[in-house]
Amino acid sequence: MSDVLARLRKLQSADLPVHGGRTLAYVYDSGLAEVDRVGREAVAAYAGSNGLDPTAFPSLLQMENDVVGFAADLLDAPPSAVGTITSGGTESVLLAVQSARDSRLDVTTPTIVVPTTVHAAFHKAAHYFGVEIRQVPVSADFRADPAAMAAATDDSTVLVVVSAPSYAHGVVDPVEAIATDAAARGIRCHVDACIGGWVLPYAARLGRPVPPWTFAVEGVTSISVDLHKYGYAPKGTSVLLHRTPAHRRPQFFASASWPGYTMLNSTMQSTKSGGPLAGAWAVLETLGDEGYLRLSRDVFEAVDRIVAGIAAPLRVVVPPDSTLVALATDDSCDPFTICDEMAARGWYVQPQMSYDGHRATVHLSVSAATLASVDEFLTALGESVAAAVAAGPVAVDPGVAAFIAALDPATLSDDDFDGLLAASGLVGESDSGSLELPGRMAEVNAMLDLASPAMREALLVAFLDRLSRPVRGAAGGPTPL
Ligand SMILES: Cc1ncc(COP(=O)(O)O)c(C=O)c1O
Repeated sequence: MSDVLARLRKLQSADLPVHGGRTLAYVYDSGLAEVDRVGREAVAAYAGSNGLDPTAFPSLLQMENDVVGFAADLLDAPPSAVGTITSGGTESVLLAVQSARDSRLDVTTPTIVVPTTVHAAFHKAAHYFGVEIRQVPVSADFRADPAAMAAATDDSTVLVVVSAPSYAHGVVDPVEAIATDAAARGIRCHVDACIGGWVLPYAARLGRPVPPWTFAVEGVTSISVDLHKYGYAPKGTSVLLHRTPAHRRPQFFASASWPGYTMLNSTMQSTKSGGPLAGAWAVLETLGDEGYLRLSRDVFEAVDRIVAGIAAPLRVVVPPDSTLVALATDDSCDPFTICDEMAARGWYVQPQMSYDGHRATVHLSVSAATLASVDEFLTALGESVAAAVAAGPVAVDPGVAAFIAALDPATLSDDDFDGLLAASGLVGESDSGSLELPGRMAEVNAMLDLASPAMREALLVAFLDRLSRPVRGAAGGPTPL
């Protein structure tokens, strides 16, 4: 048995580190070993408990009500507010859209109105639930434009969405103006605070300028906030809060139309592990309000020092309202090479492709744990930029660029995708014939950056399809036919 766990640890050693504050996307690190330990032990203790039935596992119901209560207090929710624990930001977003759609069954072709900077989870929701998504261009400061949002809203609109903050640029939308307009028309307004909802209230308490965005804004009807981001909890927990039980009602699903137990769900999952909720509850109880205030002080000190340390040819795209920073370069180098160079120095920073007329950027989600090594981060970044300038921007062959730009993914066959994946360097074959991922990504990213968003999506779907293929005949498994 210990051999299995040793093998597991060996497998895991190829992954990005989740501790140490050097992974600036995907993971959020408090840097506190005790918080981590308590969270993990709680996950393990509840790994087999089933959140499907609160009467069978009343401790999970208790923990859910505790965590939702903490979130409600944090986000200025009125006494009428209710909420649900979900598996993550995307599930909270999906349920916000689904409940808005189903609150307006009189609307036959429902639409949602979002700024172009809204998280891709809303595109997924629109796709899943047959809702049209109206993307509204943002202002020059990357914040949603209230007048343009209002102009895109009409009788078919079931939900207006804003971000606090947006993932790609880290700025808070003008929630008050947009929510007020939505309320005047009787339309729901959701604030996607998945990534910022647990730090922005503390930022305000620390005296930083944060525009109003919580339930204190009258027209806000729901807010999503993730515990597995700046709640520093183990993965698998988010909160979806609604202003009133009536706003939440369409989110519930029940079915007695079969011979088994009556299915009764508040989320997309039915059977669900109690682990993530127990982990989040334990982290919340350990840190408490004071703990989050301290971690917020740390993370904002780290953000301020990083922003102050950015030097040409890098620049901060827009001063961040929260803990996310987007960095752009000039023509002397490209952001994709900087990401590779940072990886070579033990730092993960995330490439963001060009979009809507704006060039590609480097994304940083700064964690409290990063504070301890901000100087090291800035040194690595300086070296990475120097290396990227020395290498020059990645040159994509103009013929290849023109070819990719002209491709229509809808007309491509599986064989075409195989050829394109090989040509782009996204997948190669090792000597043993298995798929191999590229070590450096700059060339691949530069090529993807030239493709249309639709082409990028299609290529990456083909890529994921090729990656996820079962290992047959594994030792210890059944003998294949
Ligand atoms: C603003 C925002 N909304 C939604 C999500 C989706 O969250 P998840 O990845 O937990 O599904 C994210 C993730 O980064 C986010 O930043």
